[in-house]
Amino acid sequence: MLSKTVCQALSDQVTKEIGSSYLYLQMAAWLEAQALKGFAAWMRIQAQEEVAHGMILFNFLLDRGAMAELGAIPKPEAVYASPLQVFERALAHEQGITESINTIMDAAIKDRDFATQRRLDWFISEQVEEEANPTEIIAKIKLLGDGQSLFLLDKELGLRTFVMPPPLAAATAAP
Ligand SMILES: [Fe+2]
Ligand SMILES: [Fe+2]
Repeated sequence: MLSKTVCQALSDQVTKEIGSSYLYLQMAAWLEAQALKGFAAWMRIQAQEEVAHGMILFNFLLDRGAMAELGAIPKPEAVYASPLQVFERALAHEQGITESINTIMDAAIKDRDFATQRRLDWFISEQVEEEANPTEIIAKIKLLGDGQSLFLLDKELGLRTFVMPPPLAAATAAP
């Protein structure tokens, strides 16, 4: 049985993941408006991935005999000073998400809720990637400067393709 605390925390996490998607979609719009189509494409994929994260927990709650109660999503900041600032904000956002996942894990451990701990294990590993990606992009922007060579990075980031997160791919696979 899911405790009320863990259920509420997982529900709030669904909202946060969908909120991440909303933030990254806004960032994609700003990047594309600066003619950085590759950066924008990368961010659009990130937005897609965040919806998938939300859906993993949305489905998990239903599988456990509970349901997500969706909360309000804050309006994301629409205007940025530079691509560097976008990725710095994205990194700070993901650090907050990691903290949030860790807090739910704490509650699940206190509850001896092993099923939630197993599900959260995937998110804990995913957060390593979620922080590593913007960290690497920030380093590359700093290395290249924000002149002409930014277009090289734009080209590279434009190559990203969407990969369905395995826990969701398993849930949506044809029987
Ligand atoms: Fe996420
Ligand atoms: Fe990811």
